[in-house]
Amino acid sequence: MEPTGSPTPARPVQVTVTGAAGQVGYALVFRIAAGDLLGPDQPVVLRLVEIDQAMPALEGVVMELEDCAFPLLSGVVATADLDVGFEGSSWALLVGALPRRAGMERSDLLGANGAIFGPQGRAIAAHAAEDVRVLVVGNPANTNCLIARSNAPEVPADRWFSLTRLDQNRARALLAKRSGVPVQEVTNLAIWGNHSTTQYPDFANARIGGRPATEVVGDRAWLEGEFTSTVQTRGAAVIKARGASSAASAASAVVDSVRSIRLPTPEGDCASLAVVSRGEYGVPQGLQFGFPVLTDGRSWRVAEGFVHDDFARERLRATAEELEAERAAVKDLLGPAA
Ligand code: NAD
Ligand code: LMR
Repeated sequence: MEPTGSPTPARPVQVTVTGAAGQVGYALVFRIAAGDLLGPDQPVVLRLVEIDQAMPALEGVVMELEDCAFPLLSGVVATADLDVGFEGSSWALLVGALPRRAGMERSDLLGANGAIFGPQGRAIAAHAAEDVRVLVVGNPANTNCLIARSNAPEVPADRWFSLTRLDQNRARALLAKRSGVPVQEVTNLAIWGNHSTTQYPDFANARIGGRPATEVVGDRAWLEGEFTSTVQTRGAAVIKARGASSAASAASAVVDSVRSIRLPTPEGDCASLAVVSRGEYGVPQGLQFGFPVLTDGRSWRVAEGFVHDDFARERLRATAEELEAERAAVKDLLGPAA
């Protein structure tokens, strides 16, 4: 009798990481190679993109990846050529960009970083796999994502995401600490709008142990004040303390985001992702806007039924206005799909 063979191994998925020699990149690529992003049975090829000056450092990262002997790592491509970097890519994680320094707002980076994302959008459209999904991390992430998306009209608008998961994780951790519960008991926490100080961490629709967070915390002034501003300014606090911006927590949020796109959203929860606005909740169309998102693992939609009082409506208005101003500031970088 023929021995029963082991199942055919899955084909490797190509995952592109730009800025792979940088801090976030360094914290991210080993987690992808270990299977955290796409699961323990899915081999990956890492396509690592850097600028010419950083290629020597990237070679060191490649050596370390090899030295880990990860069973799921089928190959590594290190390149400064965007066409090569995005070839066949199913997941494009756009990290490569300057980080801000103490005293700067993320939008101060638009001048330096915005121009990176048009060419990357075009290269993704020309070379990536049919199923490509893109997650922008480089700041200001929402508007950089808009720039890339608008330059890639061939790639459907629902394939473009930017990171608000780090804010969601921060907000959940803060509510869990305040309430003395494990973090997984804090659910349905949406981050609305921009990954900036105008974002709205939506405590009013969040739940703790299944109950409204407002009831469990019992201190509306703290929620509107210290809680909201701590989440909004946490990135700057990390920069002040570390002398460099968040890296491990950012990489972890990237892993969480991709998993929340790939896997069905648990009942009663939502994923925080910045996605293209189609006018939901009165948000201007076309902005890359942080929403609560529900997925079934194949497609996503903005969650319905979030209730906003005057405080929340004012926060949504302010963050949308900021994103509209950023969109106007980069109008020369926007492509045909803006
Ligand atoms: P870093 O300076 O350590 O690394 C950035 C890397 O990007 C460098 O290696 C650089 O050579 C590379 N790079 C620059 N231009 C590039 C290009 N055109 N193509 C490819 N690579 C390029 O910075 P970092 O700490 O890793 O942060 C990277 C970006 O991520 C920054 O913009 C930072 O603000 C942002 N960030 C965003 C979040 C978020 O939640 N959205 C969180 C953390 C960091
Ligand atoms: C963060 O939120 O930690 C990142 O966006 C980095 C920054 O500039 O704050």
